[in-house]
Amino acid sequence: MKIIGTGSYLPQRIMTNHDLEAIVDTSDEWIVKRTGIRERHIASKNESTSDLAYAAAKNALAMAGISPTDIDMLIVATSTPDYPIPAVAPIVASKLGCGQIAAFDINSVCSGFSVAILNAYGMLRTGLYRTVLVIGADTYSRILNWTDRTSCCIFGDGAGAAILQFDGRNNIISHKFGTDGARSNLICIPAGGAKNPIHSLDPNGPNNDLFFQMDGRSVYEFSIDVVPKTIVQLIEDAKIQPSDISAVLLHQANIRIIDAIAKYLDIPRERYLSNVDRVGNTSSASLPILLDEAVRGDKIHKGDKVMVIGFGGGLSWCGYVMEW
Ligand code: UT7
Repeated sequence: MKIIGTGSYLPQRIMTNHDLEAIVDTSDEWIVKRTGIRERHIASKNESTSDLAYAAAKNALAMAGISPTDIDMLIVATSTPDYPIPAVAPIVASKLGCGQIAAFDINSVCSGFSVAILNAYGMLRTGLYRTVLVIGADTYSRILNWTDRTSCCIFGDGAGAAILQFDGRNNIISHKFGTDGARSNLICIPAGGAKNPIHSLDPNGPNNDLFFQMDGRSVYEFSIDVVPKTIVQLIEDAKIQPSDISAVLLHQANIRIIDAIAKYLDIPRERYLSNVDRVGNTSSASLPILLDEAVRGDKIHKGDKVMVIGFGGGLSWCGYVMEW
C-alpha cells in the first residue's frame, strides 16, 4: 500500500492561550505547563467539518496529482459531522466532485484516523477498491462548553487527508485496535443522541450535557498506560527493534503524555513528532495533520518504518507500523 498524497487544512483564525484568558479562568502558564499547547485554530462561522475536510483533501489530491474522479472510496473519520444524519463523507465526496462513490464516516473519536487507515488498507488489499481517500476532520469548537476551562482550552479545529493505493506491498507490518466501552463515559456528550434525546432536556436548563465532557485526569492515566503497551506490542508483532522506528506519530493530546511515554521506551525522543503547541488537540484530524507536516517537512522517507497511534474516546486505541 502506498500513500500517494497527503494534505491538511487549519482554519485561518488562531486563538492563543491569552485569548482564552479573556473567556475562562485560566492562564497561558497553566495551559503551556499542563499541555504544551500555545495556540489552536478555530473554524469561522461559515466553516464546518465538511469544509475543513474538503480543503485538506484538495491539498492531498494536488500532491498525488490525481483527479477527484480517480477516488473510488472516501472515508471521513470524525466525531463532529456537519449533521447527526447524514454522514459527512458523501457531502465531502460531492463537494470534491468524486461522483457517486462509496463514502462513509467512522466515529472512533481521536482514534478515528488510524481506524480509517486500517479499513482502507483492508479494502485495498482485497482489491475491492483501488484509490481510497481517508480524511480526519473535526470542528470541536462547535461542541465545546466554552464555560468549562477543563476542556475548552485543549481542543482546536482542523483536517488532514491521505490518499492510498495498493502497490502490491503488505506494508502495514503490525497493527493493534482495542476498545474499552466500560469506560465510555470518560469522554462523551451525554445528551442529544438516542439515549437522552434533545427533546427530553429541560428547555430552560443550561443543558451542559449537550456539550463535550472529558474526565481529563482519568483519560490521562488511561493514555500513559495503554499507549506504551501498544507501542511495545506493535514492535514485537512487527519483529523489529525500537531503534528501527524512524518516526512516531502519536495523537496530539498533550505534550506531557508524549514526554511520559517517550521516557519509558527505547525510541529516541526526537523521533516523536509533535505540533500540539500550534494546533492543540484536533481529535480525528490530529494524526493526518501531523502526517502531512512530516511528509512536507521531509521527515519521512521511502523504506522508513513509521508508527502511528490514535487514542481517546470509546475508550479506544488504534495503531500500526507502516513501512513507507
Ligand atoms: O483526545 C482524547 C484523549 N485526551 C487526552 O488524552 C487528554 C488527557 N488528559 C489531559 O491531557 C490532562 O488531564 C488535562 C490537560 C485535561 C488536565 O491536566 P491535569 O494536569 O490532569 O489537570 P487536572 O484535571 O488534574 O486539574 C488540576 C487542577 C484543577 O484544580 P484543583 O481542583 O486542583 O483546584 C483544575 O480545576 O487544574 C484546574 N484546571 C485548570 N486551571 C487553569 C483544569 N483546567 C484548567 C485550566 N486553567 N484550563
